[in-house]
Amino acid sequence: MADRVTLITGASSGIGAELARIFAAGGAATVLVARREDRLTALADEIAAAGHPRPAVIACDLAAPGACDVVLAALARMGVEVDTVVNNAGYGLFGEAVELDRSRQLEMVDLNVRVLTDLTLRFADSLIRHRGGLLNVASIASFLPGPRMAVYYATKAYVLSFTEAMRGELGPKGVRVTALCPGTVPTEFQETAGFRPGLDSAVLNLSAAAVARAGYRGLLANKRLVLPGVGVRMIPFMLRFAPRSLVLASVARVQQKR
Ligand SMILES: NC(=O)c1ccc[n+]([C@@H]2O[C@H](COP(=O)([O-])OP(=O)(O)OC[C@H]3O[C@@H](n4cnc5c(N)ncnc54)[C@H](OP(=O)(O)O)[C@@H]3O)[C@@H](O)[C@H]2O)c1
Repeated sequence: MADRVTLITGASSGIGAELARIFAAGGAATVLVARREDRLTALADEIAAAGHPRPAVIACDLAAPGACDVVLAALARMGVEVDTVVNNAGYGLFGEAVELDRSRQLEMVDLNVRVLTDLTLRFADSLIRHRGGLLNVASIASFLPGPRMAVYYATKAYVLSFTEAMRGELGPKGVRVTALCPGTVPTEFQETAGFRPGLDSAVLNLSAAAVARAGYRGLLANKRLVLPGVGVRMIPFMLRFAPRSLVLASVARVQQKR
């Protein structure tokens, strides 16, 4: 295994699996993290069979206490240093916050916020040393309050704010820092969140492969923000002119229909 690697969390499905494919196709040695080891191993086999560097795999529940220590120890055993971190693992839950399971919502905060922050800070020195990159997967939800997905939207607002601020700190030290903000991407996300299928807006829809490609290119080009797709790009622009109360009411109306 090469001594410098790209660490990708949540690589067993959806956007993360596509990010693993595209980083490997670009020649990066990758380390893939998620809970489902069989999925990660199958993906590593597929990437190696395509003639790209074979990813290493760390099967780990990142939301569990001490999980980031486990990742660090596994990387140390491999004898590798991380030059790029892709914080992609995350999930949402659909429903009123007061009615959803509280512990699952707190676990979501742990994964989407605490783990992303922890991995960013743990590897910051290594990213600086290697003049590497940080790609954090936020969401179009980062720009909005989200009744019926209140905790998820709030976690993604944190991801965007934190990532932009880290760009301010790490950018001058030679690290590329990018926030990837997808709209609707058909993956396992919808089933995990508990959406009824088929109600997502076609305007915001993009495949996981297209989103990963945009994120990868955006990081290489050192873009602050990547908004994949025309529909998604319009939202932050339109939000500049809309009162927050109107935005809140509109999101509530859309979420009511799901
Ligand atoms: N799909 C969308 O519409 C959409 C839109 C905007 C942003 N996003 C963001 O994109 C990112 C990827 O989501 P996706 O759409 O690709 O969903 P996905 O297909 O459900 O993938 C989620 C990934 O996170 C991993 N994961 C979940 N819990 C974990 C845990 N406790 N420990 C380690 N890994 C864990 C899953 O692997 P295991 O189950 O094997 O652990 C899986 O690899 C998320 O941050 C999501 O918020 C998605």
